[in-house]
Amino acid sequence: MRILFIGDIVAKVGRKTVQHELPALIEKYKIDFVIANGENATHGKGMIYHHYQELLNYGIDAITLGNHYDDKSEIEKYLDAATEVVRPLNIKKDFPGVGSAVFKSEDGTTIRITNLLGQAFLEMDVENPFLSFEVFLKTIEPANIHIVDFHGEATAEKQAFGLAFARQVSAVIGTHTHVQTRDYRIIDDFTGYISDVGMTGPNNGVLGTDKEGVISKMFNREKSHFSYDKKDDGLFSAVVLDIDEATGACQSIFPIYSVVKASELR
Ligand SMILES: [Fe+2]
Ligand SMILES: [Fe+2]
Repeated sequence: MRILFIGDIVAKVGRKTVQHELPALIEKYKIDFVIANGENATHGKGMIYHHYQELLNYGIDAITLGNHYDDKSEIEKYLDAATEVVRPLNIKKDFPGVGSAVFKSEDGTTIRITNLLGQAFLEMDVENPFLSFEVFLKTIEPANIHIVDFHGEATAEKQAFGLAFARQVSAVIGTHTHVQTRDYRIIDDFTGYISDVGMTGPNNGVLGTDKEGVISKMFNREKSHFSYDKKDDGLFSAVVLDIDEATGACQSIFPIYSVVKASELR
């Protein structure tokens, strides 16, 4: 089956870019199931209920999160009932929702999706993702397909994870850096891998935020306010995965990277 994995959707421009691009991509590439990282969906940080619903309406089947999973406190109220959302598995604090869930595609194929947070350069209080995932794998019922969203800053940590769990999961998709890497490949003839799938959001800033705030922070080395241009061009970043549902092996992985002009986003 064919799965589309969309990189971190940032703010309104990101959501509108999904709306603009997704229906045609599903048609063109005959996509069976759509996963997206939604940790930045609401003004760049977190995801409120309304935007969760909006993303589902655009054709997304499952949403993963990341270090911004709890930035909008509203999520604590709706997450337990939000069966399409998977938040990081290895957080230490008691939080609603689940870190891994099994979804079903229209043809009955079961797809497990797991979300993990890396430890390198991320100031988060999390369990070691390698150790916790190793333990977790022993506790779960097998599904046809298992996709891991490894949300981390360092390519080395993500590569090590992909190599460590090759042949145990169908794909390891890196998220969080908002910059798509060129190292997509299949590890050990089984596990689809990319260090970072990239971002879906405002294209002319820095990682989705307006350039002014970031540049000022770099010059002055002090905190500055980040904002999100509501009229920017929209970058769409994703990967397409072909996975054999009988074996769980990834047969091909290729990236999608396109820009939609601001005038086409409404
Ligand atoms: Fe992100
Ligand atoms: Fe992140």
